[in-house]
Amino acid sequence: MGRKIVIAGNWKMNKTRPDAEKLIKELVPYAEKATCETVICVPYTNLETAVEITKGTKIKVGAENCHFKSSGAFTGEISAEMLKEIGVEYVVIGHSERRQYFNETDLTVNRRTKAALKVGLKPIICVGELLAEREDGITEDVVELQTVAAYTGLTADDVKNTIIAYEPVWAIGTGKTATDEQAEEVCAFIRKIIANKYGSEIADGLTVQYGGSMNPKNAAGLLAKENIDGGLIGGASLKAEDFAVLLQAGGAGNAC
Ligand code: PGA
Repeated sequence: MGRKIVIAGNWKMNKTRPDAEKLIKELVPYAEKATCETVICVPYTNLETAVEITKGTKIKVGAENCHFKSSGAFTGEISAEMLKEIGVEYVVIGHSERRQYFNETDLTVNRRTKAALKVGLKPIICVGELLAEREDGITEDVVELQTVAAYTGLTADDVKNTIIAYEPVWAIGTGKTATDEQAEEVCAFIRKIIANKYGSEIADGLTVQYGGSMNPKNAAGLLAKENIDGGLIGGASLKAEDFAVLLQAGGAGNAC
């Protein structure tokens, strides 16, 4: 199949600069051995440190968000251009915490995705249902709406530079992971949505990650699934030994 397996850490609002430096240095040797792509998405204040330390290593650096305008009067925001200029390669877009706490909408997710692609950043686009939505049996409707909205106006070439992360909101930071089957079912469904819009070749090449309490214990099972091509990992990305296990599981995944 040849899909790229991407194990991405999402540090969220964690790690001061000295702590970040220490963790990244610990991660370098693990990433050297990994056969999957290793990405760390870090707070803005750690980006330059991360880019500097990872130069010449196999670790790629990502941001956790970007604004959709290239510049202007948007106090507190960072543009995709600014990230690109300092050497960032990836950016998380539409994380459920942004949607829940910072009024991120499907429209702004789409606009941020386009802004990232325009400057050559690779967006990791997050979608996923709330617990109440799963219980109501509308998981697929929610994920379809979010996915279609995020990809509105994107060309097939754009899609090749995106990653989509299925992150059921009820599984994020809760210790409650989706079962391997639940995760596989939705990741396969996402691939079908992309296939309907862009054809099966593009869909087959798209990296679809799972995220939500992925950890050293459950990663191998999730990553062995046919349609799960990596993970977006919060808590377990903050300790080198834990993240190392995920990198190893990523290397053993189905699509490598
Ligand atoms: P978690 O976070 O691994 O701590 O559940 C995942 C995420 O929010 O991307």
